[in-house]
Amino acid sequence: GPTRYEAESAVVSEGGTIDANHAGFSGTGFANGANAVGSYVEWQVTGPASALTFGYANGTAAARPVDISVDGTVVAAAVPFPATGAWTTWSTVARSVALPSGSHTVRVTATTADGPANLDYLDLSPEVRAS
Ligand code: GCU
Repeated sequence: GPTRYEAESAVVSEGGTIDANHAGFSGTGFANGANAVGSYVEWQVTGPASALTFGYANGTAAARPVDISVDGTVVAAAVPFPATGAWTTWSTVARSVALPSGSHTVRVTATTADGPANLDYLDLSPEVRAS
């Protein structure tokens, strides 16, 4: 199964906080990134992996897009994190990414002044190998 990296163990850029005031999250909390362009949440992860899945909530009416970067290179631009209906309603956004073996930095960076959605975790799905 996937390997989970909780957002409460991630690095949050200036102005962001680790919160626990909206129930339903995994672990002990979630990352509430600052409401600003460039606001980010960054995880150190270990590959290999074939997909990234982000747990999140967005209690507003508008999607909260982020650039997803691996080791400083954007691998998916302006990926929308759609409204979930409430801050206590958690959903997922996933992207296929060929992540090689070893340590990597995965960062999501807000592309709008709303900042990122509230981020709960990053799951790495194991690489699928042909048998
Ligand atoms: C509310 C909510 C926060 C959220 C914020 C936002 O303040 O309680 O958890 O991060 O909105 O709009 O980003």
